[in-house]
Amino acid sequence: MRDRRSFLIATLAASLTPVLARAQNLTDEERSARKLANADSTLAPDLLLPENQMAWWRDAKFGVFVHWGLYAIPAKGEWHMFNDKVSPEDYAKLAQQFAPRHYDPNAWARLARDAGARYMVMTARHHDGFSLWDSPSSYGHFDSMHSAAGRDLVRPFVEAVRRAGLRVGLYYSPLDWRFPGYFQPKELPENARLLKQQTYGQVEELMRDYGRIDILWWDGGWLAHKGTDADAAWFWEPDKLNRMVRSHQPSIVINPRSGWQGDFDTAEGGGVITGPIRARPWEKTFSLNAAWGYTPEVQVMSWEQVVRLLVDAVVRNGNVLANVGPDKDGVIPPKQAATLRGVGQWLKRYGAAVYGTRAGPYQPADGVYGSTQRADRIFIHVLSWPENELVLPPLGGKIAHVRNLSGDTVRWRTDGNSLNLTVPPSDRGLPVTVIEVTRA
Ligand code: GLC
Repeated sequence: MRDRRSFLIATLAASLTPVLARAQNLTDEERSARKLANADSTLAPDLLLPENQMAWWRDAKFGVFVHWGLYAIPAKGEWHMFNDKVSPEDYAKLAQQFAPRHYDPNAWARLARDAGARYMVMTARHHDGFSLWDSPSSYGHFDSMHSAAGRDLVRPFVEAVRRAGLRVGLYYSPLDWRFPGYFQPKELPENARLLKQQTYGQVEELMRDYGRIDILWWDGGWLAHKGTDADAAWFWEPDKLNRMVRSHQPSIVINPRSGWQGDFDTAEGGGVITGPIRARPWEKTFSLNAAWGYTPEVQVMSWEQVVRLLVDAVVRNGNVLANVGPDKDGVIPPKQAATLRGVGQWLKRYGAAVYGTRAGPYQPADGVYGSTQRADRIFIHVLSWPENELVLPPLGGKIAHVRNLSGDTVRWRTDGNSLNLTVPPSDRGLPVTVIEVTRA
């Protein structure tokens, strides 16, 4: 049975290569747009969280994502098993080497707090099928309890993040490459049934046995890596799945990647964010390093790049979830940690213009400016200055006060048709200048 399985998986993987190559030629943005466009909004609309229960998530703005699992050992990214056609048997051997000596979720949570993050999301289980907790529903006991680690790694994470005062999120991939039935659900219904049973069982464990969980981050409600999450809804039944989730965690915030639209939209990849303010809550997610899972650090995003993305997200009603990939010992690599700390320094100074705000009143001008607002304050985030003044549409109503949060001086005038701002180059901020306008 096992041999047959690995043979099947290898044959199928080979036959799927062209499909995947095509899928992987898409940019990150295109891939996530495809997923987004295909999340099913007609499915279970009654499951959506009411606005007031989404408020904390919309206020939080910034989260840290952690991709961690057996794939940290070969250090080729979290798709290693699939991309390098490693058989489930060979891949399973990694579990016996998985003994993270320096796993310290308190240190992770401290780092996330220093980064100014308000939530943290960890991959409880990725597409390789290895679970980071003691999971009775795991097919073949493929979990951290039965690895060299010999313990549950999710519980201390949940507890540490909670203790640090952050909200807790878990990522879970319904798909599992170990099952040939994932690749051929119609031809191998019995095997596919086992996969589905594992998903329902494991998600129930996570939702029932770990106290309050604030975010469920689905990823990979596909079938055979084809089509979209919503195309696979006939199989996964995401309404049933998410109803079960809500029965244990009534106010958990759920993303759309189970095929159901979820409480917020996702946009994947580090590409520039453009366009108008988005109506639905959404989250931009990207990795600071090349892959999501651990690979040696070569080119890591700078804190300035992350801040630009954060600003471009919040002025469009979005959040940012920035990913790090800890190494096999559980250490978040130094450059990624430094980037996070840099974001934290920036947020310490500019947090008022970010946390708890909503986008507007101005529609963003791509690459130039955008705004956020809270009560009587409007924060104008300027990404690049025109040669002379920055000319904005009129605000309407009287202005009591204009303040440059990035330096000493800001000159402003308004004549009813526009609001004009001038800041001398020496008083501008990098990578953004933030101007606070208080309404009278
Ligand atoms: C993709 C990838 C996955 C990663 C995820 C993060 O869907 O399959 O490896 O975990 O995006 O958003």
